[in-house]
Amino acid sequence: MMRLAFIAAECEPWAKAGGLADVVDALARALGRIPDGTGELVDVFLPRYRGVPVPEETRDTGAVVVPDPRAIGSRATVGVQETETHGYRLRLIDYPPAFDRADIYGYEDDPWRFGLFCRAALEVLRSDAVPPDVIHVHDWHACPAVLYRDLFYADDPLLRDAATMLTIHNLAYQGWIPRSELPQLGLDPDNRILAPDPAGLDLLWAGIEHADIVTTVSPGFAHEALTREGGFGLDGALRWKGDRFTGIINGIDADIWDPATDTDLAATYNRADRAGKATCRARLLAEVGLDPDDAGPVIGVIGRLDHQKGFDILADAADRAVIGGARLIVLGSGDSTIAAGLRDLAEGWPDAVVFIEKFDRALARRIYAGSDFFLMPSRFEPCGTGQMIAMRYGTPPIVHRTGGLRDTVIDETANPGQGTGFVFDEPTPASLLDGVRRAVEFFPYAGQHASEWEALVDRAMAVDFDWERSSAPAYMTAYRRAVEVARSGVPVAAGAAGDRAPVPTPP
Ligand code: GLC
Repeated sequence: MMRLAFIAAECEPWAKAGGLADVVDALARALGRIPDGTGELVDVFLPRYRGVPVPEETRDTGAVVVPDPRAIGSRATVGVQETETHGYRLRLIDYPPAFDRADIYGYEDDPWRFGLFCRAALEVLRSDAVPPDVIHVHDWHACPAVLYRDLFYADDPLLRDAATMLTIHNLAYQGWIPRSELPQLGLDPDNRILAPDPAGLDLLWAGIEHADIVTTVSPGFAHEALTREGGFGLDGALRWKGDRFTGIINGIDADIWDPATDTDLAATYNRADRAGKATCRARLLAEVGLDPDDAGPVIGVIGRLDHQKGFDILADAADRAVIGGARLIVLGSGDSTIAAGLRDLAEGWPDAVVFIEKFDRALARRIYAGSDFFLMPSRFEPCGTGQMIAMRYGTPPIVHRTGGLRDTVIDETANPGQGTGFVFDEPTPASLLDGVRRAVEFFPYAGQHASEWEALVDRAMAVDFDWERSSAPAYMTAYRRAVEVARSGVPVAAGAAGDRAPVPTPP
């Protein structure tokens, strides 16, 4: 038996801004379900944001009092609500001044909000009958929890022996606090051991330093994060972790993502019988206003329009991709400059490029199913889920060779007869076009190379990314290792100068 407590800012379907939410939800559930798993339900701590659809059976389980420099008397009374749902125990931290707001993130007091959240989660764990074996925090928002554990609960009988683990889903967001604001998190601005950088404290750095084990969401990204180019200023701290920093690839939930049961599709299908996929393709093209009778390759693209995801690279390459015979369906919202570029493109190529500027779960599913290829031009990608979903839906991905994309997609050109998609080397329009060209040439026109194509689609669909079979057992191994590290007393955040991780340097 192992008691695990997740602390995270997102968890699907309660609060989602990105892939973090899917992973927290799916991993928590898988761990409670696998044969060699935790043996009991995982706790998932989540702030009760305004938008959380609190399930009816949720019960109040009391309140905890935490230090809060902003509250009257410098103490805040924080409500806690719980429910066992979706295969885990959801524990909502309810403090309206911090969380009763329209959005999950984006406020200038985010460090205070998430600091308070973490402090409250630790107080709740402390009031439980059974202590957690591992406190598993996700991304910078939950890093104050490992810091607080070491600072304020090092002698607490329930929390002192818990192992701590940090998973980095996105290294680009680090939670920076200027030194003058450290008291907002209950931290001493004069403490140079805690925050050696004279300017302030990088919360992700603190999490890396204090956690017993640090993971990120693919081995490929773990490798890149250790380099100066890919480390976002934290490569030194990660190198210092040695073998206590590893990559574990994410999975996808094979029940949630299943073309055989997906009710948003025009027709269902499976690996053995893909007839329904042709129906999905025709209906998708009609839905977005493209010619369903044109047999040429259709490339789907879905995601947040931001620098990381490389949609601007696509916008620069798209004219030439269209001239080369591809049609594009792009779904996403975000950066207004990138959106304007994509809008111009769609206006210039009304028969070949469609840009739908929104986030639409059902349409996304129809694009995964109805496209011939799925393109991910991400500059960096710790794991990525789109490529795995696309494969499950029989839509070979075209991806940049980076992070989790390179770990999950096998390039057909370099490995004829063994590939699951197409991989290009650089985050540039020229390299992207090279990948698209190879994919388009492989696509069966008028029956040519039809059997090679069918075999490629079949291999893509055969890859098993299910959480329960691969990634969740890998996490169990990491938890056991975290417990070992915590017990062995390896100096994790010893404070002796020689043991300290280097302070982040700008990328
Ligand atoms: C972040 C990363 C993405 C990863 C997801 C879940 O959104 O950018 O690559 O798949 O977290 O771990």
